[in-house]
Amino acid sequence: MADYKQIVIFDTTLRDGEQAPGCSMNPAEKLEVARRLEKLGVDVIEAGFPASSPGDLESVKSIAGIIKESAVAGLCRSLEKDIDAAREALKEALSPRVHIFLATSPIHMEYKLKMKAEEVLEQAVWAVRYAKQFCDDIEFSAEDAFRSDRDFVCRIFGETIKAGARTVNFPDTVGYAMPGEFGERIRYIKEHTPGIEKVKLSVHCHNDLGLAVANSLAAIQNGADQVECTINGIGERAGNASLEEIVMSLRVRRDRFGADTRINTAQIYGTSRLVSQVTGVKVQPNKAIVGENAFAHEAGIHQHGVMANRETYEIMTPESVGISKNQMVLGKHSGRHAFEDRLKLLGFNTDSGLLEKLFTEFKVLADKKKTVNDRDIEALVMDAAASVPETWSLDHWAVNTGSALGASGTIRLLHKAGHSEKIVALGDGPIDSIFKAINQIIGREPELELYEIGAITGGSSAQGETMVKIAWDDRRYNGRGVSTDIIESSIKAYLAAVNAMEWESAH
Ligand code: KIV
Ligand code: ZN
Repeated sequence: MADYKQIVIFDTTLRDGEQAPGCSMNPAEKLEVARRLEKLGVDVIEAGFPASSPGDLESVKSIAGIIKESAVAGLCRSLEKDIDAAREALKEALSPRVHIFLATSPIHMEYKLKMKAEEVLEQAVWAVRYAKQFCDDIEFSAEDAFRSDRDFVCRIFGETIKAGARTVNFPDTVGYAMPGEFGERIRYIKEHTPGIEKVKLSVHCHNDLGLAVANSLAAIQNGADQVECTINGIGERAGNASLEEIVMSLRVRRDRFGADTRINTAQIYGTSRLVSQVTGVKVQPNKAIVGENAFAHEAGIHQHGVMANRETYEIMTPESVGISKNQMVLGKHSGRHAFEDRLKLLGFNTDSGLLEKLFTEFKVLADKKKTVNDRDIEALVMDAAASVPETWSLDHWAVNTGSALGASGTIRLLHKAGHSEKIVALGDGPIDSIFKAINQIIGREPELELYEIGAITGGSSAQGETMVKIAWDDRRYNGRGVSTDIIESSIKAYLAAVNAMEWESAH
């Protein structure tokens, strides 16, 4: 078998991805995503930016405490307090990485940092040396490297390598580069940075012109050893390079790149679904690799070709990225084994204490719905696993509505301290009335920024899936709810977001 260079996959879904508007995750969701990334086989999980908030520090800490197979990185500015926060957050990690950054482009140095190039160099070297005292695995990023003077980047990389950096990262922070010139720049850096042969050269590409993946691949062809990317390409503005597209490009075209990764590609689809579910950010249907239509052959001539030989129109199989063509559905007569097998197939961790609860919920659902498919099961797991402890839980609800009357909603919620509250509210439609009733109970009126409802599968007995995003005090909280009743799915989604808000307020 040919010898392929192994590219290091540095996943920043939980940091650059999560910091994008509308992509926030609660701590339980971040842990769930981190577990999935480990299973996927990423080499480094960037778990957050510990100095950015006490919540982020705690979240990096809890991820560092459970991840064994991947390194766990925490981002820091080149400041003592940031590096100290990363040290605290990563102290339990088996393989900690401190990721330090400082901008090197003229525009960032003059207007953002208000520093001269020499001061930037000195600060970066100081920061790497400071962090090196307690962590061996240091990465230094020259923010906005592509718009920086290339010889200055070589110098700062050379000096930070001397100070102890084991990875130097070249970001195209604003997504400005074209693939040809990005590749050339990487080659230049590789050829002109003192000591680069002893460390890994990384790239981090943003997608403002839709070229993040192309630029990352051009960098690999020109000597990059590590790529930074996110699941579904989520991230600041137009996003980051998409992990699944880079990984599958390398796997499908190993002949061209002479490089591969240690990613277990069969975990790609499940991880993509999880990230989409917890962030509430849908994957576009025609998205490469993980979009709903990525393997759909609609035209008759294509279907005919694929039936004769799949390779006529398919360069990779859906199974290779974890899209199961197994159409077998589960129903109320399916046993625990079949249910557990399906959970495993979908990539969920079945040895958690959740199995019993999930199986009971599955039986209730199977009673309401004749058939339960993979999407339904995913929804059950997401409901059960990725939530913060509930401050408020639903006891019962009722709505009255009609064309001649306004709507009124009644809801009774149970508080974790043991008391309950019941309110009746009027509103503009059933959802508005019931959300108003909830607001009166919790004593806050968060802004409803997003309310989306859809069906998980087809048919009138399908489960309704509701996504909400609420904003309070400049923070955003997602909630998701699933039920065969769409008002109940809306209540569940709203309460999940409210509980995330309550949890953060209490911590
Ligand atoms: O885009 C960027 O430059 C970054 C750095 C912090 C690596 O995210
Ligand atoms: Zn970035």
